[in-house]
Amino acid sequence: MREPVLAPSILSADFADLAGALARVEASGATWLHLDVMDGRFVPNLTFGAKTVADLRARSSRLYFDAHLMTVEPERLAPEFAKAGADAVTFHVEACVHAHRLVREIHDAGAAAGVSIVPSTPVSALSELLPDLDLVLVMTVDPGWGGQRMIESCLGKVSELAERRRKAGLKFRIAVDGGINGANAPEVVAAGADVLVMGSAFFESPDPAALAASVLALRSPY
Ligand code: DX5
Ligand code: ZN
Repeated sequence: MREPVLAPSILSADFADLAGALARVEASGATWLHLDVMDGRFVPNLTFGAKTVADLRARSSRLYFDAHLMTVEPERLAPEFAKAGADAVTFHVEACVHAHRLVREIHDAGAAAGVSIVPSTPVSALSELLPDLDLVLVMTVDPGWGGQRMIESCLGKVSELAERRRKAGLKFRIAVDGGINGANAPEVVAAGADVLVMGSAFFESPDPAALAASVLALRSPY
């Protein structure tokens, strides 16, 4: 039973002070930083590109940079984010036809590779990919904005992935993203999540260190 990972998402931070957000995440005891890249096409919202990741990386932070590409044609962007200093690059299976090729390109660029599914996509869409992945990101909201309510039924997919991983002896981490907070984190970890992405709940928390400590104390049954 491993300690879960808390990955605060800077989507909910003050974009005029991203360096401050980085410092706040580090001070909380969280070890990952979730970077939501939105293109205004795959999702309606727009955020930032690889330069922002490179500039944050240059702040010599020890945080693990977890880039989540919510973009069409992720093959055009993913290797660029790896080169900019993302430790893991995750793209959406709904946006990519030749996913094995892109996983290989992300690995060749020196990053861990992840694939994400939106709430309406079943785990079976990943069946052929799972042995090649370092991370599977299960969205528990339709992506586009922070601060949405978690779609609880998606947690069934988290348990399904954890079971498949156990049966097949695979190693990928399971991340969950969307509407996670201190109150529902125990249920998310109980479902089998290894990585909890948290945007608004983290950045709106009056005590991020206490929030992080409560998440890190949870244990998954898987
Ligand atoms: C949603 C993004 C999430 C978002 C989560 O489209 O992918 O990473 O930042 O924010 P909360 O935790 O507020 O739902
Ligand atoms: Zn995300």
